[in-house]
Amino acid sequence: MNQKMTTLKNLKFFVHTFGCQMNDNDSEHIAGILKSYGANPSDILEESDLIVINTCAVREKSEEKLYSLLGRLNSLKKKKGKKFTIGVVGCVAQLHRSKLLEKMPYIDFILGPDNYRIIPEIMTNLFKEKIISTDWSKDWHEIPAAQTLRTSRVSAFVTIMEGCNNFCTYCIVPYTRGREKCRPSPQILSEIQELAHSGYKEIQLLGQNVNSYIDPNSKKGFIDLLKEVNTIEEIAWIRFITSHPKNFSPDIAAAMKDSERVCHQLHLPVQSGSTSVLHRMKRGYSREDYLQIIMNLRKLMPDISLSTDIIVGFPGESDKEFQETMSLLEKVRFTNIFSFRYSPRPLTEAEKNKDEVPFAIKKARLIAVQNLQKIIQIETNQLLVGRTIKVLCTGKSKKDPNILSGRNAGYQVINFSSKKEVLYQFVDVLITSSGPYSLLGHTL
Ligand code: 5AD
Ligand code: SF4
Repeated sequence: MNQKMTTLKNLKFFVHTFGCQMNDNDSEHIAGILKSYGANPSDILEESDLIVINTCAVREKSEEKLYSLLGRLNSLKKKKGKKFTIGVVGCVAQLHRSKLLEKMPYIDFILGPDNYRIIPEIMTNLFKEKIISTDWSKDWHEIPAAQTLRTSRVSAFVTIMEGCNNFCTYCIVPYTRGREKCRPSPQILSEIQELAHSGYKEIQLLGQNVNSYIDPNSKKGFIDLLKEVNTIEEIAWIRFITSHPKNFSPDIAAAMKDSERVCHQLHLPVQSGSTSVLHRMKRGYSREDYLQIIMNLRKLMPDISLSTDIIVGFPGESDKEFQETMSLLEKVRFTNIFSFRYSPRPLTEAEKNKDEVPFAIKKARLIAVQNLQKIIQIETNQLLVGRTIKVLCTGKSKKDPNILSGRNAGYQVINFSSKKEVLYQFVDVLITSSGPYSLLGHTL
């Protein structure tokens, strides 16, 4: 402990995060661990002593962005010398391991998503050897709450499980994050209690496939966990991400409806509107199964806000199959979507399939999806103009510090002006205008 303290005390670190909420949360842990040894976070890359890059391997594009950042850091290191430490952690580290070091010998350490706890030890022994650690452990490793440096003061991610057993044919996650591993529920609940005491108002339960959560000791499932979290009074809004249609039983929808603190909002990745593509993706549900889930959700909670992920140009996707994705978007009318061009990833089953959709077609399909969704969002957001909506103010707008920013229960971005101090509070906002991606208004 002492040696680690001596090495890390007053060291300035910078954590750069690529990818999903899971990575955001891991980066909060990395920063918290470093801070607990006396190191300080820095906002300026050039002035830092240690750079930790938390990487994402889910699509080729995010990997490319990593390599361009590493190129910049190499030039900086040449200027700053040996004392500038570069660590690559997370999914790309897990995927390429020592190959990264062969190509970029200036990297100082490489750690998989299950290994970043050892950064303080590494920093203590750094100049003796380069460290590559990408082992997975089967057991859950608890990170003390004190070792989490949260970026938000009102909304917190709480990891409930890690990894994935699904092996969808396009997806690299099971190879980088390993198999499913669930966190014992007493630990989850005590972290949320602590967050509640420190003033957090919203929590998001986090995992690659939260619906398949099962407590490793009591064997209780996701619904029991959700109901227990719902008893923590100070937490006003509960969300969970990511759900899988294959595991999203009607009981989960009913538990959402019955748990008054659970927001009527759900991210449910469909990936494609075509049953044949879904079959080739090994998703485990059909277009009809998905639409049935949506119908049931809307019957129980007519105000539910739904979002999804879409992949266009999966190998062999015909124009007819693509049109089924378009018609699903028209049918469901999601509040928001995240859409991607299929990107072949190493180790996955689909990558071996040579029936690739040409790049120009993938590109055109992505534009078509995004244009259609934009129209849907313009139309649905317009309906909110003139209404007063409850918003959790999460901070100031990035573009204009006089404007505050927050989200409603449906997880839509709302920018608003306010006469009184409402930072980090719930407020009622009158919506005065709308765009496809956000809503504008003011407090009353
Ligand atoms: N290509 C494109 N998108 C992908 N996703 C996962 N793997 C790939 C891939 N190989 C998308 C899925 C997933 C989201 C997190 O990323 O839509 O839900
Ligand atoms: Fe990837 Fe499928 Fe697992 Fe999601 S459910 S992480 S898409 S393998």
